[in-house]
Amino acid sequence: MPLESRKVLITGGAGFIGSHLAEAHLACGDRVWIVDNLSTGRQENVPSDTQFHLLDIASEEAAALIRRVGFDVVSHQAAQADVRVSVADPMRDARTNILGLLNVLEAVAESGAGRVVFASSGGVVYGEADEVPTPEGAPKRPASPYGVAKLAGELYLDYYRQVRGVEHVALRYANVYGPRQDPGGEAGVVAIFGRRLLEGRPLRIFGDGGQTRDYVHVADVVAANLLAAEAQLSSAPGADARAYNVGSGIETSVNELADILERGAGAQCERLWDEARPGELRRSALATAKIRALGWRPEVALRDGVGGAVATPSSAQGVRAA
Ligand SMILES: NC(=O)c1ccc[n+]([C@@H]2O[C@H](COP(=O)([O-])OP(=O)(O)OC[C@H]3O[C@@H](n4cnc5c(N)ncnc54)[C@H](O)[C@@H]3O)[C@@H](O)[C@H]2O)c1
Repeated sequence: MPLESRKVLITGGAGFIGSHLAEAHLACGDRVWIVDNLSTGRQENVPSDTQFHLLDIASEEAAALIRRVGFDVVSHQAAQADVRVSVADPMRDARTNILGLLNVLEAVAESGAGRVVFASSGGVVYGEADEVPTPEGAPKRPASPYGVAKLAGELYLDYYRQVRGVEHVALRYANVYGPRQDPGGEAGVVAIFGRRLLEGRPLRIFGDGGQTRDYVHVADVVAANLLAAEAQLSSAPGADARAYNVGSGIETSVNELADILERGAGAQCERLWDEARPGELRRSALATAKIRALGWRPEVALRDGVGGAVATPSSAQGVRAA
């Protein structure tokens, strides 16, 4: 381990993206702590070389840990990440996504150190965009409490940067896919289709399947997070100044995704067509010129990345391209 190894906290480190990130930081020689309440994460995702704390991010114990250790990097991946839950219970969403974030930010501000890397969502902060692929400066039209909370989170981060001196980067992820993704998750269409293909069960498609999404592999998202933890950043004010889209920039329809997965699996599946979901975005893809200028670009093409995306079975029944 290098003498100057960084102290890195990953909230949500037992989850899909956070656990990959924990492995990557360990591989960089960092010391890694994880705070996770295991609401959707799994203990078996947690790498053994990390210090794991079974805590809620909104708890005083989590804040005390942050104040005590004084982290160099706080990678804030923990979230109530299901749009449908946020619609059914906005208060529950806000307890984690607003109050939990504020608890973390207050403690980081008090500890007087570190940079916060925030997992935002390009799939929800822009809503139905006029311009696709959508750049960071586009109008923000979140259409769910989850989207409102992600955008509010970025605004809080900007406030803490301007007034309390907390450095931050917000990464607006596209639809992330890859190994360990829960097929019951909100944005897990790749995992859901992949599992159904393996099991020879029909693929359920809502609407005509022409709705598009931007799929980015978790390895590319991890690389963006590692870069965000140390990149030189603009000192311009405003939330967009520190926001970076992380996506492929490519629109892929649900029908095309099904074709790609079928080709990858060398198998075909029956497709079942359901009513379109009210409020579902028609088109979504992220412009990535801004993060590319920092030296990042997606390395994993969808056709190559889908192979490892089939996750452990859980309770998912449908398909929703978030
Ligand atoms: N997966 C995607 O496509 C996608 C897209 C855009 C943004 N994001 C964001 O990326 C982050 C990671 O998402 P993911 O796909 O890995 O989801 P995930 O559900 O696998 O991971 C979230 C983790 O946070 C933990 N958690 C939730 N509430 C908590 C709380 N109150 N206290 C402590 N831990 C808590 C969960 O147990 C889980 O381990 C989230 O912030 C999510 O909103 C994900």
